[in-house]
Amino acid sequence: MSDIIVAVDGPAGSGKSSVSKEAARRLGFAYLDTGAAYRALAWHCLDEGVDTADAAAVAARIDDFDYAIGMEPDRYFVRVGGEEITADIREPRVTAVVSQVARVPEVRAGLTALFRRLVSEHPKPGVIVEGRDITTVVAPDAPVRVLLTASPEARMSRRSAELGSESTESTAQQLASRDAQDMRVVDFMNAAEGVTTLDSTELDFEQTVEALITIVRAAPTA
Ligand code: CDP
Ligand code: CDP
Repeated sequence: MSDIIVAVDGPAGSGKSSVSKEAARRLGFAYLDTGAAYRALAWHCLDEGVDTADAAAVAARIDDFDYAIGMEPDRYFVRVGGEEITADIREPRVTAVVSQVARVPEVRAGLTALFRRLVSEHPKPGVIVEGRDITTVVAPDAPVRVLLTASPEARMSRRSAELGSESTESTAQQLASRDAQDMRVVDFMNAAEGVTTLDSTELDFEQTVEALITIVRAAPTA
């Protein structure tokens, strides 16, 4: 059972995954990327020919969703039905439909239960869980809750740098449109009561990791 749960939310490109993973590595904590589960289910629907716009068809897939994720920061993997799909879930075709899958209430309930089970069963002294609704729904009682933000310009330029030559004007539009769709389901732009905002607009990667670690160490239970 992990004693210290660190909940991190934020919009796309704010640095949640990379910063949380590195902070977990340095703290000796486990790391749970919840967006990867939504992406894996979206990948599974595409693989099975399920129409992701059909909420009932997507909901029908959640009960037998055979999902496994690595929670060691250095041994990260995602599997569905035993098949390794760690890289596949980042493909644009998956990114394009993941919000449709994530808005289905049965999907959110099923994955929230899965995340709570993974966190409660993990033996590390702490775990950093990152996503969109961790501070508010998945772990609202976590001793450390952080909203990681960055200006839209900073987020776009970080994603563009990651994508390199693949990056286009439409990449920025897709990012903005995905955030807008996701915001209809859960608010990850404004900090809920008791949640610490970490604005990384003016911070580089290393400074953001250090800032998150400082917040974790300052928490009463840490
Ligand atoms: O890394 P990036 O910001 O591109 O997205 P992600 O964290 O991999 O999440 C992919 C998608 O999963 C989001 O666009 C949301 O639709 C959904 N998601 C969610 O609804 N709730 C979460 N806790 C995490 C992700
Ligand atoms: O998971 P999320 O979509 O929030 O973001 P990410 O994929 O972790 O981060 C997007 C990119 O921003 C990564 O290449 C990070 O290294 C980079 N980053 C940065 O340049 N400066 C920061 N302060 C935080 C992240």
